[in-house]
Amino acid sequence: MRILVTGAAGFIGSVVTEQLLTDGHEVVALDSLKHGHAAAVLPAAQFVKADLLDAAGLADIVKSSRPEAVIHLAAEARIAESVRDPGLFFRANTVGSLNLVEAMLAAGVRRLIFSSTAAVYGEPATMPVSEDAACQPLNAYGESKLAFERMLPWFARAHDLRSISLRYFNAAGATERLGEFHAPETHLIPILFEAALGQRDAVQLYGTDYDTPDGTCIRDYVHVADIARAHLLALARVDEIGTRAFNMGNSRGYSNLEVIEVVRRVTGREIRVETAARRPGDPARLVASDERIRAELGWEPEHPDLPAMVETAWRWRVRHPDGYAG
Ligand SMILES: NC(=O)c1ccc[n+]([C@@H]2O[C@H](COP(=O)([O-])OP(=O)(O)OC[C@H]3O[C@@H](n4cnc5c(N)ncnc54)[C@H](O)[C@@H]3O)[C@@H](O)[C@H]2O)c1
Repeated sequence: MRILVTGAAGFIGSVVTEQLLTDGHEVVALDSLKHGHAAAVLPAAQFVKADLLDAAGLADIVKSSRPEAVIHLAAEARIAESVRDPGLFFRANTVGSLNLVEAMLAAGVRRLIFSSTAAVYGEPATMPVSEDAACQPLNAYGESKLAFERMLPWFARAHDLRSISLRYFNAAGATERLGEFHAPETHLIPILFEAALGQRDAVQLYGTDYDTPDGTCIRDYVHVADIARAHLLALARVDEIGTRAFNMGNSRGYSNLEVIEVVRRVTGREIRVETAARRPGDPARLVASDERIRAELGWEPEHPDLPAMVETAWRWRVRHPDGYAG
């Protein structure tokens, strides 16, 4: 297939692109490069620098590149920033995504795989959380993604759009060639690597008074290559499935303190941690039920254990201490 991947220069989009190319697909890789890196887009993909908020430009790109499907990962994704600046998130993630769907429909493209997030749930009442749980986001990031998810059945009804939303929990890990690098970084594991590499003095541990066994937040980590694989499975089934959301996690939670210990063990380095106040918008626990994605898409993680994920990410980071800059 010929596939348009938005956010292809970002962490997860670069690995989705890599797997699509490996499986013999043609990729048009779109990114504004606001948070991504041109060097993360493999040369076999056709790179297009564009912003989702340029509706006319986007419509031209979709029309001229004639994709058979779109995988839409481009987004603003920093949770605490979304609480401070919701407008940025609703513009990029809700309006930008709407621009994309309209460009797709104008070009006759009717298959969409959308990167949603566990943040749509907010603070779920039961854990692990299933896709049928109430969606009550605690931050504008989650709300901006949920708003777009909620449009999808309406586009299905009016225009026969086929879409699958994958609600990722916490992405981690790396492939041989591609890894996670943001400046500034907001995700715990790469922040711990910065401390392990001597690039920062200490790591702030946000909140030690949550209602969890050790008082720190609990998250479900999923390897980026396993996330990418789910997109290929979703593409193969999207025509038949229509509109549906799937959790993308491993059904296993790790507290922030447990993650810190895993990273200390894997890196063998000193990492100084300082406790800090809670960050706005962070729920105490988020652990996925992965039953639906296993049963309906046949997804099986190849790297379900956190230490193995951290090992792949550390291997990449040691080779690329300054990310894609070097
Ligand atoms: N990383 C995670 O743990 C995680 C968890 C849940 C959901 N997600 C979702 O997965 C997707 C990818 O996340 P990531 O971690 O790779 O983030 P990322 O920031 O590395 O990648 C996002 C990419 O989108 C691009 N982008 C942003 N706004 C754009 C716009 N208006 N037009 C064109 N390009 C734009 C950025 O330049 C960046 O390269 C996002 O949609 C994110 O919300 C990520």
